[in-house]
Amino acid sequence: MKRRIGILTAGGDCPGLNACIRGVARAAYELFDAEIVGISDGFSGLIEGSFQEMSKRDFSGILTMGGTILGTSRTPYRDMRVIGDDKVNKVSAMKDNYKWQKLDCLVTLGGNGTHKTANMLSEEGMNVIGLPKTIDNDIWMTDVTFGFQTAVDIATEVIDRLHTTADSHGRVIVVELMGNKAGWLTLAAGLAGGADVVLLPEIPYDMDKVVEAIEARARIKKDFSIIAVAEGALSKEEAGMKKKDRGNSNPYMTVGHRIAAELQERTGLECRAVVPGHIQRGGSPSPYDRVLATRLGVRAAELIRDGKYGVTVGVSGQEIVDNPLDEVAGKTKFVPVDHQLVRTARNIGIVLGD
Ligand code: F6P
Repeated sequence: MKRRIGILTAGGDCPGLNACIRGVARAAYELFDAEIVGISDGFSGLIEGSFQEMSKRDFSGILTMGGTILGTSRTPYRDMRVIGDDKVNKVSAMKDNYKWQKLDCLVTLGGNGTHKTANMLSEEGMNVIGLPKTIDNDIWMTDVTFGFQTAVDIATEVIDRLHTTADSHGRVIVVELMGNKAGWLTLAAGLAGGADVVLLPEIPYDMDKVVEAIEARARIKKDFSIIAVAEGALSKEEAGMKKKDRGNSNPYMTVGHRIAAELQERTGLECRAVVPGHIQRGGSPSPYDRVLATRLGVRAAELIRDGKYGVTVGVSGQEIVDNPLDEVAGKTKFVPVDHQLVRTARNIGIVLGD
């Protein structure tokens, strides 16, 4: 059986993309007569027709590599059907290029935006299989995404290191972690790193409660504290406002900086803000993510062998599962406010700011 597979990585990168690409390719070569076409830089490569014929050798030595050998880009889903100044009809271009390349299927590795576009292409008649990558862990119908655990490891190490310096200097350090909409990374790293306060996008915070928590620690002679805040965390006031009215127009004055500045003013304690940013997305995947990404990639190849399309691969408990693309696309897996991890945090005295 011969299958010609187009493969692309879209959206923000994360550790494990190459491990997953390798998993798809190795299993495809193993299971059937596979031809693999690499599509450069996400959906923009599919639109522009930027393809490269790949061979077994291209997938060798990439298991441990960070980033993506295919390159990536963000082509927002909302713009997909918009014809811009270049007059390119992006959806038609993708369909034409898929046909031109004589692809039997398209494998898309990506997050929520990628899944929306993947589903659209599936509805347009392409044979599509999605694979769930993101350090945000916010893809619907999968317990975990690849890249997440490595980011938790990195963010935890950041917190561990901040702990020692915060302790030496008697400072409050606010560490702002990635997660614009979902707080999984901040919650997990906050728990693993022993943060005193954890602020998530799903639980709007009250600054008075944060001040109270830090002052309570100071009263018992704990003169240092760690606050882990997700980049998308909002105060209760902000949560009640429209996005454009929130007044956070300065991109350098992020939530971590704003909280540190206000805390210093209100408590008189010395505060610092640290934003590890894209460090959380860079570098080699952890062993956990190498295994997970490989399992997911191999499942995608099995699905191609079986001719099962219009699905995205996910994890449920210990199992690798296939979920319908149209049920996954357009939904975000937020942290439920009563999630067991949230209760765990509360029950060991972590302040969530509400
Ligand atoms: O989707 C992953 C993510 O890391 C988010 O947590 C973050 O908001 C976003 O990417 C930032 O990515 P970029 O700087 O590439 O736009």
